[in-house]
Amino acid sequence: MAARIELLVTSGEFSLDGGTWQVDNNVWLVGDDREVVVIDAAHDADAIASAVAGRTLVAIVSTHAHNDHIDAAPELAARTGAPILLHPDDQVLWQQTHPDRKPDGALADGQRLTVAGVELTVLHTPGHSPGAVSLYAPALGTVFTGDTLFAGGPGATGRSFSDFPTIVDSIRDRLLTLPAETVVRTGHGDTTTIGAEAPHLAEWIARGH
Ligand SMILES: [Fe+2]
Repeated sequence: MAARIELLVTSGEFSLDGGTWQVDNNVWLVGDDREVVVIDAAHDADAIASAVAGRTLVAIVSTHAHNDHIDAAPELAARTGAPILLHPDDQVLWQQTHPDRKPDGALADGQRLTVAGVELTVLHTPGHSPGAVSLYAPALGTVFTGDTLFAGGPGATGRSFSDFPTIVDSIRDRLLTLPAETVVRTGHGDTTTIGAEAPHLAEWIARGH
């Protein structure tokens, strides 16, 4: 059974540095009829559980620990028994949202997760947050970039725990080096490709965001 990619968009709040914003998040599911991985359990455990639809949830992978990407993770984990995986460099952010519940496992650069016969390679892509990761699935021709790379440029780096030069390094060295036809599936908003974004790197650096 070939693996496929499904998208669920959920709505809720993003809070950091004393501000709160209404946001729509992309929740990505990768799997087949038997098993699935959820990338970013955002906002709505009911809706995500419905999308999992009784399949084995292999893991809840968090691209980073901003609250809007992890707020539904503990409830989804409790309902399914799936482990929550997070890069340890985002532990400080995680604790702001879930002080009483740690992630179940650590993501590391180069680690490979397997679901439905497809490998997802963890790329540590810090900058938007210290422990931000992207997940590259060459067999599916796609990379899941969380809030590191969007259609139109880098993720935000204006708030705490973010750094613009660091996200530029991550995007230049880890993402724009992927094949041009690679589809970029983001944490918010539209999908793009590496080839569509790569020519704009110098513009982003010049504008500083
Ligand atoms: Fe974020």
